[in-house]
Amino acid sequence: MGRIVTVASSKGGVGKSVITTTLSGNLAALGYRVAVIDADPNASYSQWHSLYEGPPIDCSCEIRHEEIVDLAQGLATSHDVILIDTAGFGNTTAAFAAGTADLVLVPVMPDRASAVEAMRTARQVQAFGKASRRQIPFRIVWTRWNQRGLVERAVDADLSDMPVMKQHLSDLSEFGKMTLSGRVPVTGRVGNQAKELIAEMRALGAVPAKRRRVAA
Ligand SMILES: Nc1ncnc2c1ncn2[C@@H]1O[C@H](COP(=O)(O)OP(=O)(O)OP(=O)(O)O)[C@@H](O)[C@H]1O
Ligand SMILES: [Mg+2]
Repeated sequence: MGRIVTVASSKGGVGKSVITTTLSGNLAALGYRVAVIDADPNASYSQWHSLYEGPPIDCSCEIRHEEIVDLAQGLATSHDVILIDTAGFGNTTAAFAAGTADLVLVPVMPDRASAVEAMRTARQVQAFGKASRRQIPFRIVWTRWNQRGLVERAVDADLSDMPVMKQHLSDLSEFGKMTLSGRVPVTGRVGNQAKELIAEMRALGAVPAKRRRVAA
């Protein structure tokens, strides 16, 4: 059975689609059977996917909350990892997508508003879990991270009670370029950061250990 990873934050523009794109391309390059559900009415992931060049990623669009769980669970019978890119505002579809997830990734950028929204999103995820009497694993993931930034340190302190992924995505122009080119770097800093993130996700049980053999 495949794993479902939902990328969610009530804040817009924090890097949800960039994380989804980076993970999807790198998981596919590692030989995983990857499906992405674009649950954002703005459809930025699926627009990018129409340009995508690389190993197969199945992309579906679904913004209806009453359909997204069945779609994700159905895809989990034929794929190793299902990533769900959600819209950047509090919405029912993101709630259902979090409700069915093996892991919810909550991106945060180095500004306080982003941290406040990440904490709100985390509380919502905890509440969805309580509603279904289970704990939904979630992790904050840093995006646009600058190692030496003062804001990063202040926001990091704000998030001290939150479970945070060790690996961050740096503030790199490659992430922006990727959204225009249809290509996902699988080497260099982007590829290395993606692989570290995937390794952490694997340790959390959100990416299966076994991967398909890819033809050379
Ligand atoms: N690590 C990064 N380094 C540099 N630029 C980044 C990074 N992550 C995201 N960006 C840029 O930030 C902007 C917002 O990113 P993205 O579209 O992924 O956010 P989002 O959370 O999906 O937004 P929305 O809520 O509108 O769906 C984009 O222009 C993207 O290129
Ligand atoms: Mg987006």
